[in-house]
Amino acid sequence: MRQLIAGNWKMHGLTAEAAAIATPLLDAGALTRDLLVCPPATQIAAVVRILAGSPVAVGGQDCHTETHGAHTGDISAAMLRDAGARFVILGHSERRQNHGESDALVRAKTLAAVAAGLTPIVCVGETDAERQAGRESSVVGGQLTGSLPDGFAGVVAYEPVWAIGTGRTATEADVAAMHLFIRQELVRRFGAAGEETLILYGGSVRPSNAASLLAVPHVGGALVGGASLKAEDFLGIARA
Ligand code: PGA
Repeated sequence: MRQLIAGNWKMHGLTAEAAAIATPLLDAGALTRDLLVCPPATQIAAVVRILAGSPVAVGGQDCHTETHGAHTGDISAAMLRDAGARFVILGHSERRQNHGESDALVRAKTLAAVAAGLTPIVCVGETDAERQAGRESSVVGGQLTGSLPDGFAGVVAYEPVWAIGTGRTATEADVAAMHLFIRQELVRRFGAAGEETLILYGGSVRPSNAASLLAVPHVGGALVGGASLKAEDFLGIARA
C-alpha cells in the first residue's frame, strides 16, 4: 500500500495563496507516496482545476451528515464531491473541540461521505491530560469504536492533540505503540480489511522529522497542517 501524504490547510488560503501552494505540486515529478491537499471549501474547485491531470488529489476538511437541506453555512459530502474532492477529513480535534463534534456525529458524517463517493479520513487522538493520566489507548479506542461505522473502508489519522501545531512531535516509540494499538483495534473489528487501512500520523510533521515518522511500522502516511502551506515543505515530506 502506498503511503498518503495529506495536507490540511485548515482556515488558510485566499485565492492567490491557494494557487501558490497548489501550482508547484504539478512539478512534483514521480513520487513513491500519494499526495492529497485539503484546502478550505471556498478553494476546492479552484485547486481541483489547478491540479487537473496531475495525480494530486483534493479533499474537504469537514462535511454535513445530510446531502442537502436547511442547514445554513454547512456543506454536504455530495457538494464536496461535485466540486471535485475525493477525500474528506472528519472528526479533526479542532472540530471535536471547537464545534463539540461527538463520535456519533463523526460516524454519521463518515457514512455520508462514503455515500457521496468520498474517502473519509477519520481523526482520533488524545489530549495531553489524557496521556498524562495514562488514558491514551482507552480514549483512542473509544473514538475508533464510536466514530467508525461497520464496514469502514477509509483512512484513519492518529493525531495526538498535544502535538498539533505545537512543534512537539510524538516520539517514534509513542507513534509505534499507538499505531500498533489502532491496527489491532481495526483488525479486531473489521478483520482482514483492517490490515489494509492506512493509518496516518499527524502532529507537527516537518521535512526534518518525516523520514523517521514514516518509517514507523503501521504508519501509512502523514496528515500535515502547518508544513502543508508551503509546497516546498509539503514536497519535502513527500520525498522524505
Ligand atoms: P500540524 O497540524 O502539522 O500543524 O501540527 C496537523 C493537523 O492538525 O492535521
